[in-house]
Amino acid sequence: MTATDDFTGDILIENEQVLALARHIPATEDIQKVIDGTGKIAIPGGVDPHVHLDMPFMGTFSSDNYETGTRAALFGGTTTVIDFILQKQGNSLYSALEEWSGRANGNAVGDYSFHMAVTDFNEQTRQEIRPLVEKEGITSFKMFMAYRGALMIDDRQMNGLMQEVRDCGGMVTAHATNGDMIDYLVAKHRAEGKLSPLYHYLSQPEITEAEASARFADFGWYNQCPVYIVHLTCEGALNAVRRATMRNQRVMVETCIQYLLLDASLYERPDFEGAKWVMSPPLRQKKDQETLWAGLQQGLVQVVGTDHCPFTWEQKRMGENDFSKIPNGHPAIEHRMELLYSEGVHKGRISMNKMVEVACANPAKMFGMFPRKGTIAVGSDADIVLIDPEVRHTLSARTHHMHTDYSAYEGREVQGKVSTVLLRGQVAIDNGACFVEKGYGQFIRRSKV
Ligand code: URP
Ligand code: ZN
Ligand code: ZN
Repeated sequence: MTATDDFTGDILIENEQVLALARHIPATEDIQKVIDGTGKIAIPGGVDPHVHLDMPFMGTFSSDNYETGTRAALFGGTTTVIDFILQKQGNSLYSALEEWSGRANGNAVGDYSFHMAVTDFNEQTRQEIRPLVEKEGITSFKMFMAYRGALMIDDRQMNGLMQEVRDCGGMVTAHATNGDMIDYLVAKHRAEGKLSPLYHYLSQPEITEAEASARFADFGWYNQCPVYIVHLTCEGALNAVRRATMRNQRVMVETCIQYLLLDASLYERPDFEGAKWVMSPPLRQKKDQETLWAGLQQGLVQVVGTDHCPFTWEQKRMGENDFSKIPNGHPAIEHRMELLYSEGVHKGRISMNKMVEVACANPAKMFGMFPRKGTIAVGSDADIVLIDPEVRHTLSARTHHMHTDYSAYEGREVQGKVSTVLLRGQVAIDNGACFVEKGYGQFIRRSKV
């Protein structure tokens, strides 16, 4: 199955690519290996466009590095991830690229690419945009509208960055929440002694995301720059996008699997347990989940990622006495495809083609990797996932491969399991074991779209 096709037949792979697709390919002597996929569904390798591996953040590092993170992704049927390079304010974009390449090169098990998060836009960084797009194949530039003092850029810088990225043929993406309003609410709650994880949620009300999403879309419209909102969570923000479409603007939208399935009642769990789901934006309400599933159907939400940014329980406990010190993020890279299959396809909310569209094809297309990634077609990389729709299993920290000692989905039963994964023609995962080593993962240079 691809985003558009559905057929029963054989796939012939030569070296790293798909050589032929046919109803029947005879097993001649030249064929070295045959994988019997009877009863399974073959889909393209997943493309997760939003992950944070080995990322310095809130006084610590996300707990999956390139090796553990991309391996866990493979176990879950995601063969390519796009990680965020974070520029250090005051430093150049190229120095950040060097730092991230140093962490990834030779360590990744699965394929990867980079977005560049510009946290300090000035004349020097402006001049680095074109070579990043044209020489390095880094075509997407992220702006944080929150985390003042660390990652946030202001409206003046946002407009400057949009104009430069537009002129260079790239795309701008945003963490679209109103950072100053959030900072005000965080300070207010802390001053009132309201320090539990619930107040992380209550410090980021829907309006903070709706306002910033509208502002980001407006600036994109004014600057005629392609814009993409990462991890959109709620009705108010999606309605801001809907309004932008009424002036014929295209605003691309990614949500993440957790916002489709989990809700803010988790923050009320006793004994600090809500910290497991402290992420930004926070989980929302059930009505927002309905909005997002409908948005997928309507085509207004085009991508489902993870925003995988895991921390161990010990790291989460940095905020035991103050929610604002809990490292933001949670583990998800391994579960996106199976959860989308189980909760989306199996439960009849989306078709299998739609699943491939939002988890494989669209992220590959929007970020300049299609048709090398995101589909099964002659000439594409042979990144192929076999899902066994009959297997029912339970998600748990005891069995997952992410480098965290808790699961955001502990005990959740899932219908359908990734049984075999090929990455560029190699069997990477089969029957619960990994057969590729660290260093097998390649950096994927992306094209302008
Ligand atoms: O909570 C989150 N999302 N952590 C990672 C950084 C970000 O904002 O994407
Ligand atoms: Zn973010
Ligand atoms: Zn993120």
